[in-house]
Amino acid sequence: MGFGPTVGNNTGEGQHQMTKTRTVRTRTEMDQRYFDLLTQLLRSQGYRELAAATVFANALLHVPTAPHKEQVGQHILEEIEHFGVCCKLYASLDAGDLDAWCNNHLSEHGPIPPLGSFMELGVAQFLYDRASGFQLREYENCSFDPYCQVVGKILEEEEGHENFGAEIMIEHCRDPKQRVETQRYFNKWLAVSMRSFGRPGTAGNLYAISVGLKTRDSAAVAQDYVDSLKSVMRVCGLNFPSRACLMTAGTETAHDLDLSL
Ligand SMILES: [Fe+2]
Ligand SMILES: [Fe+2]
Repeated sequence: MGFGPTVGNNTGEGQHQMTKTRTVRTRTEMDQRYFDLLTQLLRSQGYRELAAATVFANALLHVPTAPHKEQVGQHILEEIEHFGVCCKLYASLDAGDLDAWCNNHLSEHGPIPPLGSFMELGVAQFLYDRASGFQLREYENCSFDPYCQVVGKILEEEEGHENFGAEIMIEHCRDPKQRVETQRYFNKWLAVSMRSFGRPGTAGNLYAISVGLKTRDSAAVAQDYVDSLKSVMRVCGLNFPSRACLMTAGTETAHDLDLSL
């Protein structure tokens, strides 16, 4: 492993400071365990990007106006670009064809749930894209330098997606009937989104932190994410589902996850 200079980092909203003490640029600088974890992270990001593009594209018929369609179309294009970035990084590591891997994975397991309405698209963009952003901020100053170089642009674009989603949610929640519906979708997409953080407290998390691929456990990232949702939730009049509800939806969370508003 190479050791680079110590670099401070300002990771932005709700984030923490970290010090970068290790810089890895090529496969030859990695041992097998580092390579395996890094390629696993890239596969899961690539999958999320392609899944988002696919689900948003399939939802285009629910988008009511041409200007809205243009915006969603732009978001789809950006998700595909993010996916392409992951594929290039993967290829640069001689790790194989991520494009084909993600296509197969999506075909076999299906994408994230399909979207049934414009409102659900808003909820999904607010929650899923925001979770992606939180996950990516962990890599903004990680030890694999080529990843750090591309994360910034992706983060800016994800922020645009989640703000668009928040606007749609706020608009719909003005009507009490639609608020009830939005709450249902909120519960569903919170569970889907929080799965992208992975299970808390695993040996994999500890290893990722020890080699500078992550800065903290999934549980801490998930808590920051949950906290960041509250201001929009208050405006909308929405509540968090319980940990038990999340578990029923297949999402395991840390026992001390604070879901108070
Ligand atoms: Fe993306
Ligand atoms: Fe996005």
